[in-house]
Amino acid sequence: MFSKYKKPGSDPKKASPGAPKLATVEGGAGTAPAAPDMAVAPIPKAEAPKVDRRAARIEREKAAAQATPEDRERKRRERLMDIKVELHKQLLDNLNLAALESAPEKELRAEIQSIASEVLNDMNVVLNREERQTLNSELFDEVTGLGPLEPLLKDDDVNDILVNGPQQVFVERAGKLMLTDVTFKDERHLLRIIDKIVSAVGRRVDESNPSVDARLKDGSRFNAMVPPIAVDGSLVSIRKFKKDKLAIDDLVQFGAFSEEMAAYLQAAVACRLNIIVSGGTGSGKTTTLNALSSFIDNSERILTIEDTAELQLQQTHVGRMESRPANVEGKGAVSQRDCLKNALRMRPDRIIVGETRGEEVIDMLQAMNTGHDGSMTTIHANSARDAVSRLENMVAMAGIEMPIKAIRSQISSAVNLMVQASRLQDGSRRMVSITEITGMEGDVISMQEVFRYERLGLTPEGKIIGRFNATGVRSHYSERFRQWGYDLPPSIFEPMAAE
Ligand SMILES: Nc1ncnc2c1ncn2[C@@H]1O[C@H](COP(=O)(O)OP(=O)(O)OP(=O)(O)O)[C@@H](O)[C@H]1O
Ligand SMILES: [Mg+2]
Repeated sequence: MFSKYKKPGSDPKKASPGAPKLATVEGGAGTAPAAPDMAVAPIPKAEAPKVDRRAARIEREKAAAQATPEDRERKRRERLMDIKVELHKQLLDNLNLAALESAPEKELRAEIQSIASEVLNDMNVVLNREERQTLNSELFDEVTGLGPLEPLLKDDDVNDILVNGPQQVFVERAGKLMLTDVTFKDERHLLRIIDKIVSAVGRRVDESNPSVDARLKDGSRFNAMVPPIAVDGSLVSIRKFKKDKLAIDDLVQFGAFSEEMAAYLQAAVACRLNIIVSGGTGSGKTTTLNALSSFIDNSERILTIEDTAELQLQQTHVGRMESRPANVEGKGAVSQRDCLKNALRMRPDRIIVGETRGEEVIDMLQAMNTGHDGSMTTIHANSARDAVSRLENMVAMAGIEMPIKAIRSQISSAVNLMVQASRLQDGSRRMVSITEITGMEGDVISMQEVFRYERLGLTPEGKIIGRFNATGVRSHYSERFRQWGYDLPPSIFEPMAAE
């Protein structure tokens, strides 16, 4: 065993004395005694005094008789966690990590299993078959992946993973947040996993540099904030990357918007209207932007700019850019604005900015106003009006001294369409409004809503009943649609009768 993956000169048996004796296995040192149904059967050490062992056993049996099944399960998990952490430490001490990188999974699993059983043997720990299997697969995840987070990352139903300190991990499934039973051993364990992620992308996170953004190997978006800024333990937020992005048809099928809205949006994208997708956090802005991009003709040159590359465009001619924060010395930052300025020199047909949140708004508006029509971005806002105010604020905060009327007139001539995404209280994500910007009336930007989601009620299970409806206004861009060959039937814009 230890074949080619063993570090030269290492011996697991020698590595163990320095390691804390598994207090839990002995059933003492601050942890509660073992329950009788625990498969972790301690084998007493020869040198331990007899009387102590007997007293300890009696104590254990007493406590076990009082323990509830939940207590026993919790203690069993704590014990396994302790054993796992100790074993993991020994594996890291003994395995040649460089050789691991290229090791076939099957071989590596076999190796871990054999090392683990040797170390367990050495520790006098006996586990049943199921526990051994769980332990081996968790060890595999610790060594090669992100430990306790690994099963959640592999679970396709999970959209977001949110860690609030070592003992609390939430996930979002079907639009709803729920607590999982996944935990880390302690803050150090959690920090080690965070460190593993950020060091892989050449970043560092510590007291002086407490927050970090990164992209996981599988493309998931990762953010961590560590103590002391994170008060109760490190905070981690992961937006899982979906290999199969939701396409327009999927979104229509899920009830995110109606077929009429899809037809309208197809015409809007194809006719090169400038579109802003607005919405709250996790409301589906990026998903919508990605889906809208599928209407872009394959012959066009598209440049995408994002803080964390999430978009997956289907077209062949796509140039992707990802901004970069400053390094530890405060150097090397490349902002979205830098990328955008450069993009304008790269002969783009379309520019897509993942999220406009700062000074890049100036260049985005200018690009939209100066021939790069058909550009798209997302913005954090709760309604179309709100999105316009956000744009105004961003322009003001970028230090541009311009009268408000001039800013508004820039916005109104740059942006044609606002699409509002929303996560409703039942967890469903829907496009709740499509609003056109039609120009200026005095100092005010004039808008007209073309489609909206109407709530009609609630089911007993708390699901929202509703429908998408046209508002009855004729699209401001009807003529343009027609000229570009998109003759949308007038029925699309006709509202259904009230229910
Ligand atoms: N209509 C939908 N139906 C089901 N799931 C959806 C829908 N739209 C988005 N999702 C899922 O919801 C999650 C959040 O979506 P997305 O990343 O698009 O949100 P966002 O508004 O861009 O979030 P953020 O503000 O964090 O950037 C993703 O996992 C995505 O797959
Ligand atoms: Mg997003």
